[in-house]
Amino acid sequence: MGYGHEISPIIGLESMRDAGIEAMLIVACGTSYHAGLVGKCIFEELLKIPVRVELASEFNYYPQTLAKTLSIVITQSGETADTIKATRRLQEKGCHVLAITNVVGSTISRIADLTLYTQAGPEISVASTKSFIAQLVALYWLAMSYSISDVNRLANMLMSIRQLPNIVQQVLDNQSSIKQYGEYLAGFNNVFFIGRDINYPVALEGALKLKEVSYIHAEGYAAGELKHGPFALLDKDTPVIAIVAKDNTYEAMLNNIREIKARGAPVIALVENGNTPASEIADFIISVPKAGLIFSPIANSVVLQLLAYYAAEKRGCTIDFPRNLAKSVTVE
Ligand code: G6P
Repeated sequence: MGYGHEISPIIGLESMRDAGIEAMLIVACGTSYHAGLVGKCIFEELLKIPVRVELASEFNYYPQTLAKTLSIVITQSGETADTIKATRRLQEKGCHVLAITNVVGSTISRIADLTLYTQAGPEISVASTKSFIAQLVALYWLAMSYSISDVNRLANMLMSIRQLPNIVQQVLDNQSSIKQYGEYLAGFNNVFFIGRDINYPVALEGALKLKEVSYIHAEGYAAGELKHGPFALLDKDTPVIAIVAKDNTYEAMLNNIREIKARGAPVIALVENGNTPASEIADFIISVPKAGLIFSPIANSVVLQLLAYYAAEKRGCTIDFPRNLAKSVTVE
């Protein structure tokens, strides 16, 4: 992780207080928007301030209330037209904008007031994968650097963050099992992904990845919302991928899986260390290494990226260059 400029002079916690910052706004598109939604959970947990996350393409078309708000834009390429437009709009309204980007010298890095580089290296494939993980890590670092948490908690988080490469390696070591389920998904036309709380945006991103690279229709949903419509679509031909986190959402998610099973849909559950109650309810289990409460999106995201990859491979898709998509979208 590297920093384009020194961060602390503008957005260190003291400066945030001095500047009267009471809220945060994150603006982005596509996968970067999903990273922003995870970021909201991280910031709200560690900073205890409200965080709004907006799609740049929508943000640019309605009136804004931005008083006492710290603005962050997230863009892998630094060239996405909607995100650039949003950055300029924010600056016109007097906001300082912090950009999280991967590309040194990109348009965003030149116009933002401050840039945090994810340094994920060039990402050639159209679908964002490693840069998504790097964006999440950047958001963890940033939130920790402003955090009002006590020193012990921060020290524990630092230890967890240092374990992340090891966690990701464990997921990669489990690829043969993930491949089997990716190939299973390749036989369906519709798939739902569900998550709760910090893993809800991970479900959105899992669905996006699957549809982008395998052309299977996939929808990400907040697990509790399935009953407000999508239940009508569930049957034996509509698998549901459920992200089961061992946090305060655990029991609610187990109930959601029971509801889905009662409607005949097959369930593949991502469970931490293959924990038992979820294993008994779901049809299939993908065991995910335990990364610690707010870090579970990293391990779960890599599992879902691999699922999409193997589904696409089975269907003979051009995984790195899906039809009709561009790596960098420079038009509104
Ligand atoms: C395109 C890419 C996506 C990416 C989105 C936003 O649609 O195909 O993978 O998430 O643009 O790109 P950005 O560079 O702003 O993160």
